[in-house]
Amino acid sequence: MKSVALILAAGEGTRMKSSVPKVAHRILGESMMTLVVDVAQRAGCERIVVVTGHGADIVESMLPEDVAVVRQERQLGTGHAVLCAREVLEGFEGSLTVLSGDTPLLRPETVSGLVAMRESSGAAATVLTTHLPDPAEYGRVVRNRDGGIAAIVEHKDLQPDQQHIDEVNTGTYCFDASVLFAHLDKLTTDNAQGEYYLTDMIGVFDSEGLLVTAMTTDDPLETLGINSRVHLAEATRTLQRRINTRHMLEGVTMTDPGLVWVGPRVRIGRDVEIEPMTFIMGETVIGDGARIGPGSRVVDSRVANGAVVDSSVVIDSDVGPNANVGPVAYLRPGTVLEAGAKAGTSVEIKNSRIGRGTKVPHLSYIGDADVGQDVNVGAGTITCNYDGVEKHRTVIGDGAFIGSDTMLVAPVRVGRGAVTGAASAISRDVPDGALGLERSDQRIVEGWADRRRKEKRSETNEGEASSDE
Ligand code: UD1
Ligand code: CA
Repeated sequence: MKSVALILAAGEGTRMKSSVPKVAHRILGESMMTLVVDVAQRAGCERIVVVTGHGADIVESMLPEDVAVVRQERQLGTGHAVLCAREVLEGFEGSLTVLSGDTPLLRPETVSGLVAMRESSGAAATVLTTHLPDPAEYGRVVRNRDGGIAAIVEHKDLQPDQQHIDEVNTGTYCFDASVLFAHLDKLTTDNAQGEYYLTDMIGVFDSEGLLVTAMTTDDPLETLGINSRVHLAEATRTLQRRINTRHMLEGVTMTDPGLVWVGPRVRIGRDVEIEPMTFIMGETVIGDGARIGPGSRVVDSRVANGAVVDSSVVIDSDVGPNANVGPVAYLRPGTVLEAGAKAGTSVEIKNSRIGRGTKVPHLSYIGDADVGQDVNVGAGTITCNYDGVEKHRTVIGDGAFIGSDTMLVAPVRVGRGAVTGAASAISRDVPDGALGLERSDQRIVEGWADRRRKEKRSETNEGEASSDE
């Protein structure tokens, strides 16, 4: 049977105390919105519809192209949100899985299991429930005599004799779409919050003699609904543990997995070592045998086999096989370190290619440069790539030797095998094999230092002699 996912993501999330819509908040670098869309996709839903409203522009900008969007202009409740999608789903018959944009830790298998259960039981709806020692703000599940669900009661509407119920609604449901849409008009706002509650559909179905079944998960961590920043931190910890465990089981060493944060899209090879206080996020790929950390952040980058990134930041860059980064280097977008290259201590590189085996070991800024193979870039070298108006390129040929403290005033080219003298400001091209030197001649004043030392000594002796008087 065909299945469609409807994700409710129009709410403001007042309890987040934020100017950003709730579902745009991030967990390990990914917005809740993208995490939930990913769950629906991986659960095998053929079509995904998202209900947006509060901060709709921000939320919609996070959605993949093939996801349909329905706007809920005024957020009148979860039931009303579903009602807004009735038109785009007109004529659809089959399983409609309703997910909340604030429940990002669901496992795809749980969602596909929910769909399978509704389809095999022929229920009008199957609700994903769980048991919580402290059910707090969750809606409570009222069971009927045959073990089906008679109603869901929101926590603000609980009657005294319902307070003890510890089975909660996780906000994840699978409905028979045509049955749901045929009955949606029966919702009212006659409740504590004056909203159209989707949860009231269950009571409506029950009173019409329609079957509602439950699927219960015994992992309440996966159904955490995020309403506050405290929940956001809990969800981060849960996802962190889940992801790190998966990588460790696949052959990644983590000295302390509680101090390593890896995003869900990151791919890591075998025999990789990740040291504490390290963040690896976005679309990053780490090759076999690489070593990352301690204290590093790698985002949207590729770190090849055997490379080392120590106490450094790497953004949108490529670190080649056996290349070496850090300690304390900053690779900004568009940096390519080819095999065996080095970006050492206090080195910043941006939008540049650093050729195979080339070393930039200390205290340098390389921007908009194309550096060949086996080049040695001396300490303190700087590409002066910006003239205040435009950026210009620096090109350095294979095997060149850049003396310490060279200023390369771009646009400029240093030829193959050429040398620049230490402390030179190179503003004209240096031909292949040549020396580029720009500094005034050194003066030698014979005996000057000895004379100065003697003078100083006699001054202090006189001083001491006078203070003795
Ligand atoms: C909801 C359920 C509750 C359940 C809990 C699980 C209702 C009435 N209650 O409560 O039984 O235990 O989730 O986490 O459904 N939304 C809209 N439009 C609206 C209102 C909400 O799109 O008008 C979206 C929100 O963006 C959110 C989701 O629906 O993603 C749930 O809304 P929220 O306000 O968080 O509901 P809860 O109070 O948590
Ligand atoms: Ca919620």
